[in-house]
Amino acid sequence: MIYDNVSRRYHRVRSFARTALPLGLAAAVTAAGLVALSGTASAASTLGASAAERGRYFGAAVAANHLGEADYANALHTEFNMATPENEMKWDATEPSQGSFNFGNADRIVSDARGRGNRVRGHTLVWHSQLPGWVSGLSASALSSAMNNHITQLMTHYRGQIYAWDVVNEAFQDGGSGARRSSPFQDRLGNGFIEQAFRTARSVDPNAKLCYNDYNTDGQNAKSNAVFAMVQDFKNRGVPIDCVGFQSHFNSASPVPSDYQQNLQRFANLGVDVQITELDIEGSGTAQANSYTRVVNACLAVSRCAGITVWGVTDKYSWRASGTPLVLDGNYNKKPAYTAVLTALNNGTTPPPSSTTPPPPPPPGGCTVSYQETQRWPDRYNGQVTVRAGSTAITGWTTTVTITRPQQISATWNGNPTWDSSGNVMTMRNNSSNGNLAAGASTSFGFTVMMNGNSTAVPRLGSCSAS
Ligand code: G3I
Repeated sequence: MIYDNVSRRYHRVRSFARTALPLGLAAAVTAAGLVALSGTASAASTLGASAAERGRYFGAAVAANHLGEADYANALHTEFNMATPENEMKWDATEPSQGSFNFGNADRIVSDARGRGNRVRGHTLVWHSQLPGWVSGLSASALSSAMNNHITQLMTHYRGQIYAWDVVNEAFQDGGSGARRSSPFQDRLGNGFIEQAFRTARSVDPNAKLCYNDYNTDGQNAKSNAVFAMVQDFKNRGVPIDCVGFQSHFNSASPVPSDYQQNLQRFANLGVDVQITELDIEGSGTAQANSYTRVVNACLAVSRCAGITVWGVTDKYSWRASGTPLVLDGNYNKKPAYTAVLTALNNGTTPPPSSTTPPPPPPPGGCTVSYQETQRWPDRYNGQVTVRAGSTAITGWTTTVTITRPQQISATWNGNPTWDSSGNVMTMRNNSSNGNLAAGASTSFGFTVMMNGNSTAVPRLGSCSAS
């Protein structure tokens, strides 16, 4: 297979002002590869690249202490374009004693991901588990202040660097009651702690997506109904919430529910994104692969399903290692589950182009470019540029794509991008496998644009230069 690079770039327009990140930060290039097929067809060869072609991400939970392991880092950097710190952002890791914050391990994961242009999910700000002992000893008013301060400190430290935060995690009980789970927050602050956490979070980083995240909410049941009612209430009352995370930890006792897709869809219909946040499925072989296929297809079928994160890079370090629940085995080999996920992503339907502009006749020895939008979601769209050789063969091509702020390109595929210092102009060059075009032949590259409130601007193409 021929690999080339896909770049993902975490865009920073509004967040720049706050974080003062260097504007000249070059677009980082991941090792996520694509395999280019003949003509205009292409099929991505990594999970992240393929998901990007569908306007989604494919991420993994990351443990900082494994980043130094070459095989781990290689698999992470090759396959995944979203990272979730598995434990490093939790309360016991970040505020082990009151007011004393430790970001070292979480910083390592964030900089590893962002240094490659990948995005990060923040996990998690308010959770009953992995709480340091001092939290349980606080009075109601002290706990309220401590929770606000914890949210504020973490979100300030990472302001502009986190795609989505799990603001509150696992606040509902299992079983049929639909009640809130007992926790220091629930027991002392009452139901209002969730709303308080979301309002505080929005005030600290208005550009991060704010998620409620839970497990055993993957199908319609009493627990997911209770979460649904809360999200509906939040939307009705204007309490800030942008997304709901479905952890999706599955095994034989808790398989992928038959109404998985319908459940995602009913939440999406409330006007929130849905995200599959901690996917793992115990098992092996075809049965495991088929379950993964169902999950991927469900996400692809729900336009507001923003992406999928698997809860670990390799079975070796899974929290359920004995259940071999991930897509890479303990030696980083691709399992049938991996192939199933990649196939499902690559087979995902892309709606017909919303507009097709026929390219002008290509000049001899030169090339032309034409643009079409291939898919649109509430917050983003995919664009495709077709590059066509003129009446003689060419061995390479370059063109530019200019976007209009506040739109931002968040992912590209089938080319080698570089960026001007403003971040508005992307120069796209052929990759190692799609530069050679016979006379009249064409290839294409693509990109995802986050609209950020501007849904009408259309990317502008520069001219095509051939070599
Ligand atoms: O790092 C220490 C090590 O120094 C120590 O020797 C060892 C002894 O117990 O513990 C190690 O820490 C463990 C940590 O994982 C890192 O391996 C903790 O004990 C252990 O409790 C912790 O488990 C994590 C678990 O959350 C905690 O509840 C798992 O890694 C993590 O995968 C899991 O993730 C959760 C999500 O956050 C929320 N949804 C469910 C999911 C699975 O339980």
